[in-house]
Amino acid sequence: MRRPVIAGNWKMYKTQAETRAFFAALKPQVAGSTHCDIVVAPPYTALAAAVEAVRGSAISIAAQDVHWEKEGAFTGEVSTKMLVEAGCRGVIIGHSERRQYFGETDEAVHKKLKAALEADLVPIVCVGETLKEREAGQTETVLNRQFRGGFSTLTGAEFSRIIIAYEPVWAIGTGRTATPEMAAEAHRFLRQLAAAGFTPERAAGLRILYGGSVKPDNIKGLMAQVEIDGALVGGASLDAQSFASIVNF
Ligand code: PGA
Repeated sequence: MRRPVIAGNWKMYKTQAETRAFFAALKPQVAGSTHCDIVVAPPYTALAAAVEAVRGSAISIAAQDVHWEKEGAFTGEVSTKMLVEAGCRGVIIGHSERRQYFGETDEAVHKKLKAALEADLVPIVCVGETLKEREAGQTETVLNRQFRGGFSTLTGAEFSRIIIAYEPVWAIGTGRTATPEMAAEAHRFLRQLAAAGFTPERAAGLRILYGGSVKPDNIKGLMAQVEIDGALVGGASLDAQSFASIVNF
């Protein structure tokens, strides 16, 4: 049985004070929620405040990105060691906004993934097609390329430590969610790739989250699909009440 994961990606939102207020409101609402892993990914500047705020709860904190080098002259970047020291347990890698706006390639995703695994951070690796790619019937080609580019050199043991987030780019921040069936179809395809690239057992254990306009009113339908192991939530994770109702789907 795969344990569900509900993860919030705050993107470039929330100061430290807003972070503390969010967790003060969230914690009592999820105190009894033991059915899933709860993860929140604040911006770098709020990581320490978030780690402090969730102490003693089951919520874990992740970063939204990381650089693959251990240290060096890379202005603006942050290393895995810095994230671990700040109290992060995981990191989002290859989000479509990083790929689209910051030119992140499959190769960069792969290097970041290796670095995260080496540092014992749980990577949540994002894959997904754009609208143009979907309309051209290329969804599977794109997922295949991203899967191979990101994961093909991992050992089986490494692969078993990652979480994949399927996030169709056309559904992110647009209010346009993939139907549960569409999401499940993509998840099934990803699991087939995992079975072919690794083993059926590792594929069966792989947690695949859906992301793209997940809200309190559509989470239940998504989670009803056996293929969907959780959600990566953007906009709706910024409000404690709304994130809590997604956690408590
Ligand atoms: P959204 O973002 O929920 O606001 O669509 C999802 C994501 O980018 O992870």
